[in-house]
Amino acid sequence: MASLERRVAIGAAQAAGRLLRSELHGSRRIAYKGTPTNLVTEMDARAEELIVGRLGDAFPEDGVLAEERGAAAGRSGRRWIIDPLDGTTNYAHGVPIFAVSVALEAAGRVDLGVVFDPNLDELYVAERGCGTTLNDRRLAVSSTATLDASLLATGFPYDIRETADNNLREYAAFSVRARAVRRMGSAVLYLAWLAAGRLDGYWELRLGPWDVAAGSLMITEAGGQVTDLAGDALDLDAPAVVASNGRIHAALLAVLKEIRG
Ligand code: IPD
Ligand code: CA
Ligand code: CA
Repeated sequence: MASLERRVAIGAAQAAGRLLRSELHGSRRIAYKGTPTNLVTEMDARAEELIVGRLGDAFPEDGVLAEERGAAAGRSGRRWIIDPLDGTTNYAHGVPIFAVSVALEAAGRVDLGVVFDPNLDELYVAERGCGTTLNDRRLAVSSTATLDASLLATGFPYDIRETADNNLREYAAFSVRARAVRRMGSAVLYLAWLAAGRLDGYWELRLGPWDVAAGSLMITEAGGQVTDLAGDALDLDAPAVVASNGRIHAALLAVLKEIRG
């Protein structure tokens, strides 16, 4: 990966993250995207504008898929996949658990992932074939070998009130089989924390490409595993995700199979 892409992506993610952090305690204009639990604030759009502006200036031929504005085709065959604010519900409530995610996909494959957590000042960078770093320190997934000793995380879909396929049965099953299951409201941070060995496993039923593009590369580059719910390759366009340190992956899939059939 040419260092220009890496530098611009890092600069954009950090600038957006710092903007979000500086405005965290301001008053928010909250709107709803489709369901009463799917929030968006004016800061999602401001952070996205900043990131898309910087990437567009540096790489005008590239396409963009950004959560709030959608897709814009490019001529280069590459596209940037952006979640300008992952953890909007936390953000809207002043909870300092959120992150910015920027990924570069080329020929259908993510080659670069950048995640910035402005609250802990943590910068995660993954490059295909070159590993994952946290503030320049090389990361490796945990070595936890059993589900019983694992710390897991999950999240719930925004249509949780409208569908029975809402992850509550899966959550109950893992809660009595793992050491604990956390629910902190940022898919991007779960994936980064898994790459850092802080979490052992993570699953979620319905996500967007921007939630997983950068983080899934972080996990595989840190020695972990990312699949769909059946253990097959992740579908980046409509991700259902099981991510782990690799050692507990089969156990996670087995519980999901038992519960979901
Ligand atoms: C959401 C968060 C949440 C997850 C949702 C995501 P957003 O992203 O990552 O943890 O459970 O599925 O959509 O809307 O805050 O960018
Ligand atoms: Ca998100
Ligand atoms: Ca978002």
